Amino acid sequence: MKPKIYIARQIPSFVEEYIGKYCDYEKLGGDNDAGHEELLIKLHDKEGLLTAGTKIDKNLLDHAPKLKVVSNMSVGYNNFDIKEMKTRNVIGTNTPGVLNDTVADLIFALMLSSARKVAEMDRYVREGKWNSTDDEEVFGKDIHHATLGIIGMGRIGQDVAKRARYGFDMNVLYYNRSRKYDAEENLGVKYADLNTVLSQSDFILIMTSLTDETYHMIDEEQFDLMKRDSIFINASRGATVNEKALIKALEEKKILGAGLDVYEQEPIEKNNPLLKMKNVVLLPHIGSATIKTRSDMAMLAASNIVKALLGEVPPNIVPELK
Ligand code: DGY
Repeated sequence: MKPKIYIARQIPSFVEEYIGKYCDYEKLGGDNDAGHEELLIKLHDKEGLLTAGTKIDKNLLDHAPKLKVVSNMSVGYNNFDIKEMKTRNVIGTNTPGVLNDTVADLIFALMLSSARKVAEMDRYVREGKWNSTDDEEVFGKDIHHATLGIIGMGRIGQDVAKRARYGFDMNVLYYNRSRKYDAEENLGVKYADLNTVLSQSDFILIMTSLTDETYHMIDEEQFDLMKRDSIFINASRGATVNEKALIKALEEKKILGAGLDVYEQEPIEKNNPLLKMKNVVLLPHIGSATIKTRSDMAMLAASNIVKALLGEVPPNIVPELK
């Protein structure tokens, strides 16, 4: 008998076919959170779950007594309650690597868009405001030769640094839990303590994963250290930043602007003050969202779940559950 799994994400049909060779599967019709109650019911006889972002907590695990593996179709896995999963011997996997360049590209889109007011100027043209380009309102901030501070120099951070150094002649500072000597040597990035990165950078990118230690790592105190003409970028997880402090920093012009792909509450709440701010570029968590990359992520997530259920060791078990 084939193992039973539940697919709680949209995946391409060729990936579904691959899974079908090895597993019996059911799948959700819509977005993964759309039917959480339905998901809990469906999980009662499932050994595997392919998802992204669904909270794998005590409640879900209580509904899934046969669960052996949760395959996340994302590199981030802050949705895993590691302790609960460990207690029940549930394996958790993610999809590192395949999305690095795509997320790094999007980070540059956020940097360029916020620095050169791309989204704002698009609205300006459409609203018929274009009479002259001497108006200071249209002037932006240069990226080339500026200093980029990267907090969290993992694989994606390094791909951003590569673009910054070789594409835009930027000076790159970074802060990370451990020094990345290879990146220093290969990319010419410089390590600095967090406060130095915050106070000396023109662009500050937070790219660290969300853990108990990094929750609200950027708060009021950190915004106070930033240059008044700096631009803050977050493409990691919303909760690495205290969003209230970010809003305050923008309102009080402690920083020039922000480019955001992630929020404390996703999808963003309708009354979030960020929605009314001109100096912010807002994206709907699309870091990895290209056709090719999402398809690669789906295939990797599928191969992780299949391997785990066939008794092989899947290559992408998250470190805390190894
Ligand atoms: C990830 O894979 O964790 C990204 O946030 C998805 O865009």
